[in-house]
Amino acid sequence: MSGVLLQAKGVSKDFGGLRAVRDLNFEIQRGEIFSIIGPNGSGKTTTFNLVTGFLPVTGGEISFKEDQITGLKPFQICRKGIARTFQRTTLFERNTVLENLVIGQRATRESSILSCILGSPGARQREKEALEKAHELAEFIGLSRQKMIPPGALPQGAQKQLSIGLALASAPELLLLDEPVGGVNMEEIGALIDLITRIRKSGTTICLIEHKMSVVMNISDRVIVLSYGEKIAEGSPAEVSQNEKVIKSYLGERYAASRRQS
Ligand SMILES: Nc1ncnc2c1ncn2[C@@H]1O[C@H](COP(=O)(O)OP(=O)(O)OP(=O)(O)O)[C@@H](O)[C@H]1O
Ligand SMILES: [Mg+2]
Repeated sequence: MSGVLLQAKGVSKDFGGLRAVRDLNFEIQRGEIFSIIGPNGSGKTTTFNLVTGFLPVTGGEISFKEDQITGLKPFQICRKGIARTFQRTTLFERNTVLENLVIGQRATRESSILSCILGSPGARQREKEALEKAHELAEFIGLSRQKMIPPGALPQGAQKQLSIGLALASAPELLLLDEPVGGVNMEEIGALIDLITRIRKSGTTICLIEHKMSVVMNISDRVIVLSYGEKIAEGSPAEVSQNEKVIKSYLGERYAASRRQS
């Protein structure tokens, strides 16, 4: 199915006197990798917080599959099919990789506490399914050999893979990734790019925030550029990387020159 999956209309966010996001309009199409780039503090993470209900909007509307989601709570938005990762990786440190992937599924699963305590056949069946799904997810994110260790023992790149796995555990239609390769070394970046492209192939739409331009420009279908909370450009990677405003406020001359040479 094609068409608009998520639409933001005139979205703004004020923090006291600071307008962190200003009259922002964008549409994410089903099946694409849509990227949001821009300098530090330009409102990228705030935009994710508004879409996922972690912060209320000051103005504007957000709809998902033509349903208004403005004002809903994060767990309600998650149940509708939007999942996210965080700029600073957040994992359940006391649990194993596999347990993390079981816990991740609880965001969307309905299960009554009473049926868990009583150990009803239905609850036991759901637990079994959750465990099977966790094994599948571990395989998919490339951590099948590290299932029984705590996330803290994993290298940075693998921790990022697991945080994506946690978000995938709710089986989202739209996955928001906040700097998925931030702080990761060159060798580990390859595995993350491979994972992101496999997620898109599996039918999940992706919205990506990333500073690493080699990643953004290679895997995105469309890019928007924020500066001081405002959208200053939108288009294909080639279009935005040649845009004068974007070069001036973010990419810089050096980047543009390296693009011209290559
Ligand atoms: N909860 C908050 N309370 C007050 N100000 C905030 C809050 N969250 C973000 N801000 C401010 O809003 C602006 C946008 O921040 P945001 O985190 O969205 O930027 P960003 O584009 O994600 O930057 P980075 O690339 O550094 O992650 C910044 O000036 C930031 O200090
Ligand atoms: Mg950010």
